[in-house]
Amino acid sequence: MTTDIATFLEAQSDTACATSLPFTATPRNTILHGDCLDILPGLPAQSVDFVLTDPPYVSRYCDRKGRTIPNDRFKWLRPGFADLHRVLKPDSFCVCFYGWAHIDKFAAAWNAAGFRPVGHLAFPKRYTSATRFLRYQHEGAYLLAKGDPPEPRHPFGDVIEWTDYTGNRLHPSQKPITMLLPLIDNFSTPGGLVLDPFAGSGSSLLAAKMLGRAWLGIELDADYQAVANRRLGETQAVPGELQVMVQEIAP
Ligand SMILES: C[S@@+](CC[C@H](N)C(=O)[O-])C[C@H]1O[C@@H](n2cnc3c(N)ncnc32)[C@H](O)[C@@H]1O
Repeated sequence: MTTDIATFLEAQSDTACATSLPFTATPRNTILHGDCLDILPGLPAQSVDFVLTDPPYVSRYCDRKGRTIPNDRFKWLRPGFADLHRVLKPDSFCVCFYGWAHIDKFAAAWNAAGFRPVGHLAFPKRYTSATRFLRYQHEGAYLLAKGDPPEPRHPFGDVIEWTDYTGNRLHPSQKPITMLLPLIDNFSTPGGLVLDPFAGSGSSLLAAKMLGRAWLGIELDADYQAVANRRLGETQAVPGELQVMVQEIAP
């Protein structure tokens, strides 16, 4: 059985999680509520231009207010990345934030899926997020290739400052929009579809929308899905205005 997006969304209650249904076309400009392990298998192969995602770090994350990340466990890693590789178009990119403590498990899942690491991004913070053996002051993300995407004529630097601390007001691991803009700008094209299967409060999708891309999110937690929907609804595309800012953030 296949279904279109209108029928699918109608079938979703406010609180129920989505079940796996094959879509006739990949939905655009919406955030689906459910488990991406159920929803991704229903998306057509080779229908997404770029994946930008900040998944659970498998680190039993807990912020200063005691908030945790839903589903912060290992079981999604292999099936999740296998399906992300399948839905991406040939010769495209995935940028994935990750938890350094479990890089072995992330790398094994990326390799098994067929992704090839082609870069590593560091995001130095102006504050310390935790202190133990070190004062932990940066986050990282891998640039993963599916196939053999062309090299850019003017590659940008792989260190992007983590300015604009969000205060994690909307989500315990809310990413600043400013540091996501260069990733969208460089690894997707206007009108292309950007997917974030761990959407949280929708930061990556918001960056995609602002730069004139189509966007698709999946989020397990109904409250965060509602937050993300509200943010996306309130934001307009302003691609021209953002070009200078993107250049300044990641020259
Ligand atoms: C690290 S957070 C993303 C935060 C996001 N970058 C932001 O700025 O708000 C990861 C999100 O993935 C969601 N999640 C965890 N497992 C999931 C799954 N299997 N399918 C869909 N969403 C999932 C969690 O509820 C959480 O909101």
